[in-house]
Amino acid sequence: MPTSAKTQWTRKHLLGLEDLSAEEILTVLDVADGYLPCVTQRRPYPPALKGRTVLNLFCEDSTRTRTSFTFAAERLGARVFQFHMATSSLNKKETLIDTARNIEAMGLDAIVVRHPERGAPHRLAEAVRCSVLSAGDDAHEHPTQALLDMLAIRRKLGRLQGLTLALVGDVRHSRVARSNLFGLSKFANRILFVGPPAFLDKLDVEVETATDFDAVLPQCDAIMMLRVQFERHEAVAFDVDEYVRGYQLTPARLARAKPGAIVLHPGPVNRGREMTNEVCDGPQSVILFQATCGVAVRMACLQLCIGALERERKANAGKAGKGKRR
Ligand code: CP
Repeated sequence: MPTSAKTQWTRKHLLGLEDLSAEEILTVLDVADGYLPCVTQRRPYPPALKGRTVLNLFCEDSTRTRTSFTFAAERLGARVFQFHMATSSLNKKETLIDTARNIEAMGLDAIVVRHPERGAPHRLAEAVRCSVLSAGDDAHEHPTQALLDMLAIRRKLGRLQGLTLALVGDVRHSRVARSNLFGLSKFANRILFVGPPAFLDKLDVEVETATDFDAVLPQCDAIMMLRVQFERHEAVAFDVDEYVRGYQLTPARLARAKPGAIVLHPGPVNRGREMTNEVCDGPQSVILFQATCGVAVRMACLQLCIGALERERKANAGKAGKGKRR
């Protein structure tokens, strides 16, 4: 298992963590680590993306991901166009692919896409020439969220391996849980999906599960609480009061975890459901630090992917030039 990045980044797209190697993940985290002082201490930003144009193509609501991709791209010197689905021609039955290809024809270097259909970022990546970065697709993957979670964990706990991490709540409908499982399990960590039976049913990933939150807490170095994603529920039996009794993270429950255990949440938090205010705002919560890490991670992802795109463009231009000279 590598502990430092030694790999040359070659991907122009970032669509998920399932296919990324441990070394590729470390490459992102190491580049992001370098950007973190730019975010936390307002140090000057290197204009690595000066003259580049990024499209934020969000077809679902977002606060953190849209904002931090915007900050990341703009702080590296890129211009960002915000696509607003509600006023777009998607409402006139234009397809996502046609929408993206038309905007790409106006001059584009990267598309950041969030979409309610599983695999939409992958289909887009096959249809356009520029970079595509997933900002979350259905309950499938949310790669930059998991990368920023890993950066926060590494910074706060001093390592990224040999940890026991519980992802608690609506794991069945969570793209964040899946991407964290794919990413963190590449570093010899023990990952537990914790929740009521209805949320552990029909999981399409191999993972250790537990229904008794109190029983697993003493083993946990990090606890990631997840929102109940009612918008993705089909027919899941769910009683809110019972859920709060069994799975809400309270100060008493947190006291059962390992000393120094950290509490994460990708957001948005539903206060009073998955955790109490005391835990959410308490000393073990790293939720706002996750938001800070999000900007640094997205700076790294944009820089690496657009860098690979530019190498591809140069190679293609070189081939075209040779063809003309023949
Ligand atoms: N964590 C996350 O994806 O938050 P947003 O939905 O606000 O982007």
